[in-house]
Amino acid sequence: MARESKAGTKRKAAATTETIGVGIIGAGGIARGAHIPGYKKLSNVRIVAVADPVEPARQSVAQEFDIAHTYADYQEMLQRDDIQAISVTTPNFMHAEATIAALQAGKHVLCEKPLAMNAKEGEAMVAAARKANRKLMCGFNNRFSPSIQALKRFADKGAFGEMYYARSQALRRRGIPGWGLFINKEKNGGGPLIDIGVHILDATLHVLGFPKPISVSGATYAMFGKRKDVIGLMGQWDYKNFTVEDFAVALVRFEGGLTLVLESSFVAELDSDKFSFHIFGDKGGAQLNPLKMFTEQNKTLLDITPVHLPGNVNTHALEIESFVNSIINDTPVFTPGEEALQVTRIIDAIYESGDKGREVRL
Ligand SMILES: NC(=O)c1ccc[n+]([C@@H]2O[C@H](COP(=O)([O-])OP(=O)(O)OC[C@H]3O[C@@H](n4cnc5c(N)ncnc54)[C@H](O)[C@@H]3O)[C@@H](O)[C@H]2O)c1
Repeated sequence: MARESKAGTKRKAAATTETIGVGIIGAGGIARGAHIPGYKKLSNVRIVAVADPVEPARQSVAQEFDIAHTYADYQEMLQRDDIQAISVTTPNFMHAEATIAALQAGKHVLCEKPLAMNAKEGEAMVAAARKANRKLMCGFNNRFSPSIQALKRFADKGAFGEMYYARSQALRRRGIPGWGLFINKEKNGGGPLIDIGVHILDATLHVLGFPKPISVSGATYAMFGKRKDVIGLMGQWDYKNFTVEDFAVALVRFEGGLTLVLESSFVAELDSDKFSFHIFGDKGGAQLNPLKMFTEQNKTLLDITPVHLPGNVNTHALEIESFVNSIINDTPVFTPGEEALQVTRIIDAIYESGDKGREVRL
């Protein structure tokens, strides 16, 4: 049975190298649906406490998942010595504040995507992790998909030769979230670009080996979100309070000549939702969803399709397990804050370029 806890319950350190104590900041959808079930699967983890200012949220999560301690204020939870790792699963506007506080309290942090509202916040988070000598991982769960990992293996082995172009798409036909703060620029930082575009941009950059971006030319549009006559397939959002874009596009140039085009929508007139990328190289190409590779050998054009990759993988569970393993083994995290910051810098520049109507140099 959950009970409210105060800072006075601070205990002696119970950390062992075998068991990691975890605290959850933010008892919403992703905490319930992914983080908590992910930790629960691991025998070397104990979820010690959950913090959320909304009482029904924290109490129902604590009861459903048998979590002993709840806090209205995460700062109090952070004083516990029996917590070594924190999941930050709050809305975007709280990521930086909660993450930095947790790092300063000596905890390792898995922060949901996007890393932050903007690069300035992201830089402070990465600096805090360095200063505290703690791990900072960002919740880019898609990198754990077998398809993306296969493409990464091929790219790293040079199978595509010089990769010179990528097209990344996170497109929904009618997918404005009808819950949460996803349509609120002030609290979410933006719309589809920062919410789902961020995932496919990260996955593409991961396969490309995180080249250094040098300039961005972007545009954003709000063509549907402010209208009340548009069908909502992910719940009905409040069109009067829609302050984000519903479509974003950008051309990103990288050192060495590589270019990437990113498209992301909550609403667009297209046949179906897409979460995919294409990569063009001078020896081969690839596409994600469905996974295929393309090349030419012996005067023959080949399509290569893997036949044995696992299909139904829970990438969130793998992400959580990977985070825990890097704490236990003291190894680098798979989706580090530094790379998530690079993604955030590009997202920032796309918004800036869209606002200014011209290219932005990084
Ligand atoms: N990786 C993914 O695929 C994925 C999927 C969904 C959401 N997310 C990310 O997860 C985050 C949360 O999204 P969600 O859908 O769970 O949102 P949500 O609105 O369902 O939950 C957020 C929770 O955080 C709580 N919260 C707000 N301020 C807080 C504070 N100061 N301290 C503690 N808790 C606080 C809210 O009360 C709420 O319960 C967002 O950043 C989102 O981008 C990631």
